[in-house]
Amino acid sequence: MRGDIFYLPDAEAVGLRAASIFIDRSKIATTAGGRFRVALSGGTTPSKLFKQLGAVVAGDIRWDLTDIFWADERCVSPDHEESNYKGAYDMLLSRLDIPPANVHRIRGEMPPEEGAREYEKELRRCFGEQGLPAFDLVILGVGEDGHTASLFPEVLSLAESKRLAMPVYVGRLKSWRITLTLPVLNNSSDILFLVTGPKKAHIMKELLGKGGDGRKYPAGMIKPARGNLTWLVDDEASFFLKRG
Ligand code: 6PG
Repeated sequence: MRGDIFYLPDAEAVGLRAASIFIDRSKIATTAGGRFRVALSGGTTPSKLFKQLGAVVAGDIRWDLTDIFWADERCVSPDHEESNYKGAYDMLLSRLDIPPANVHRIRGEMPPEEGAREYEKELRRCFGEQGLPAFDLVILGVGEDGHTASLFPEVLSLAESKRLAMPVYVGRLKSWRITLTLPVLNNSSDILFLVTGPKKAHIMKELLGKGGDGRKYPAGMIKPARGNLTWLVDDEASFFLKRG
C-alpha cells in the first residue's frame, strides 16, 4: 500500500501540515466526547510538528480527551538526551495543560522486557483486554535503513504477531529499545509518516520510487488494515521520487 504522498517544500512545511492533520484527526475523535489516542514517533523529525502543536490555540485540541503514547522508546531514563519522551516533553508536553494520566510514557528506565510488559499492560488498560489497540493516529519516521519505530531490518521483532509491544536489541546501535509491534501499528485508523532531509532520499526511492521494493523494509511493511496511510515528504527527501 503506497498511501497518499504529499510533497512539501521543507521540514517546516511538513511540521505545519502534520499539525493540521493532527488537529483534524483529534477533532474527529473527540467530537461527542470520544478520546483521541495517538502514538508519537521518536527521532528528530517530529520536532517541527511538536513546536507547531505546542503553539496552537489550546481550544483547537481537547488535550483532556487526548491520550499520548509512543511508537517506540530508547531504553534510557526519561531525562536522558536520547529519550523520545524527553524530546516530546521539552518541545510539546511541557507547554500543554494535559492531565499527566493522559501521557503514557514507555518506561525506558526499566529492564527492557519489564518495560515492554508494563507498556503492554498500559495499552490493555486503555484499549481493553481483547483484540489489538486501535490508535486514531500513529506518527512515524523512517531511518536511512528503512526502519520505523524500533522495527529494524532482519530483527525478530518484525515477525512478532502476538505481543503489543516488545524489547528489541539493535546490534548496530548497541542499544535496547521498546517498540510497538507491526500488528498494532497496522491496526491504526491513520498512519502519518514524516520524512525530511537529503539523507532520506535514497530510502524513499526504495520505498516509494519506481523499481523500489518497499516490502524489504519495515517502513514498507506499514499497511494500515483499515486505515489511511499518508506520507509527508519534503523536497530533499523526495529528490529521487519526483524525477521518475
Ligand atoms: C526512534 C524513532 C525512529 C525514527 C527514525 C527516524 O526512536 O529513533 O522512532 O524510528 O523515527 O530513526 O529518525 P529521525 O527523525 O531522527 O531521522
